[in-house]
Amino acid sequence: MATLTELCHAHTELDSDQVSHLQNLTAIWGLLADLSFADLLLYGTDSSKSENTLVLLGHIRPTTGTTIYRADMIGQIFESRQRPLIADCFTQEKDIDGLIQTGPDREISVRAIPVRLGGQVIAVLARERVHSTDKASSVLERTYRRVFHRFAEMIERGEFPYREEERLRHRTPRVGDGLLLVDDQGRIEFASPNAVSALHRLGMHRAVVGSRLEETNLGAVMLRQAFARRTAVIEETTHGTEVVVVSHCLPILDRRSATGAIVLLRDVTDLRRRDRELVSKDTTIREVHHRVKNNLQTISSLLRLQSRRLETEEARAAVQESVRRISAISVVHETLAQSAEDDAEFTEIVRLLVKLVEETVSLPERPLRFSVVGEGGTLPSQATTTLAIVVTELLQNAVDHGYAELSLSNKEISGNVTIELDRRSEGLSVRVVDDGVGLPKEFEIEKAQGLGLTIVRTFIEGELGGSLTLQPVDKGSGTIAEVKIPANRLLGLWDDAQEPEV
Ligand SMILES: Nc1ncnc2c1ncn2[C@@H]1O[C@H](COP(=O)(O)OP(=O)(O)O)[C@@H](O)[C@H]1O
Ligand SMILES: [Mg+2]
Repeated sequence: MATLTELCHAHTELDSDQVSHLQNLTAIWGLLADLSFADLLLYGTDSSKSENTLVLLGHIRPTTGTTIYRADMIGQIFESRQRPLIADCFTQEKDIDGLIQTGPDREISVRAIPVRLGGQVIAVLARERVHSTDKASSVLERTYRRVFHRFAEMIERGEFPYREEERLRHRTPRVGDGLLLVDDQGRIEFASPNAVSALHRLGMHRAVVGSRLEETNLGAVMLRQAFARRTAVIEETTHGTEVVVVSHCLPILDRRSATGAIVLLRDVTDLRRRDRELVSKDTTIREVHHRVKNNLQTISSLLRLQSRRLETEEARAAVQESVRRISAISVVHETLAQSAEDDAEFTEIVRLLVKLVEETVSLPERPLRFSVVGEGGTLPSQATTTLAIVVTELLQNAVDHGYAELSLSNKEISGNVTIELDRRSEGLSVRVVDDGVGLPKEFEIEKAQGLGLTIVRTFIEGELGGSLTLQPVDKGSGTIAEVKIPANRLLGLWDDAQEPEV
């Protein structure tokens, strides 16, 4: 659907000032549709076609009544004879009322209002509703229609929408929020039931109608400003620690003097409370993340302290390995804490883990080169943490065992470690391929006693239902360590597709 601006540019000769006047009008016209209990349609003259053609620039339905148009008609082109009242309004440049027969016993009551800016009619606003001879209507209905009438006159005189529009920070008010009608002295002439409730919530307990606006908690400053500036003024009123009411004061003008105003009241107490709750939950989560991070750091430093006191090299190495494993967990934790989701981009995590291992390698004669290929996709947080420990272990083994006895004369060994990620519908495969010295002769994974591979196997087979294989590379030297995780173990806690365990 084309926007108002696009339609104006495509069909009319309106300049940017005129277009923005129409934009201001359609920004607030929901209110007018509600006040008139009718559909509002905005017509422009279509200069791209032959003479006497109209284009429908906008349409809004009332929330207080039923629409007569169910289809979306914006952008439609009409011949003048199809919309005679609108065409007349354009040529006569004045307000026109009329009835249009649309069926055997259906008449549409149309009021065509010229939209004027700087003395020029730039568009026509039509108020259209099913005509009824039924005169019995409520006080509220009659008041709203009268208010609409006053705004229609302002539109015709070019006094509405206001020139200096206070940018509506809040959603445009609708009359259902609560409406007060005040006279030029600030006396409340009418109050809708929702407006009365809002004023009660603000602590006013006397009769609303007949009081002056300054006797409500809303105060009279807003009204004075609206009268003086001849534009809408928005204010927020609080009562006690909780109640918040947003009011929009719209002055009713007649040739630059204010004859009254409407004040739309919206109780936003619940909204504000929800905002506050969200903010505080968010802060709590951040705080928890922060504490977890600090705790992981504390554990690492405690272990480091411990390792410094150990006598044997073997013991020190063992504790250092634990520190390394904790670092892998920290990497995942920090990545998850930074994103709003519970899922993590696994490829990113692997890159960070590579950096971690890189920092601990020191083989100046022949630097190791690490590369990550393929995509791991997103994984739920628990699987990510487990796999992060596994990948760190495999990378460390490549460094520790593949290149430990690295002799400078061995030309086949160039020091390339590749992490290959492959995510398919059946699951995820992670391969750590090195071109080091290769596995020891008679190596059997089932018989491997080292802590590293034991951890890997326990996690992969136990927690993730996957498999681990270690094998020599086909050509040349080196080792391929591969873990495979089936797809059903890579679903988040709340994924629908997750099958129940049997
Ligand atoms: N990439 C590799 N290259 C050569 N040997 C490896 C490789 N990965 C594992 N191994 C062999 O598997 C053994 C078990 O590894 P692991 O369980 O991690 O214990 P650790 O690393 O403490 O020796 C290693 O001692 C090594 O002999
Ligand atoms: Mg190891």
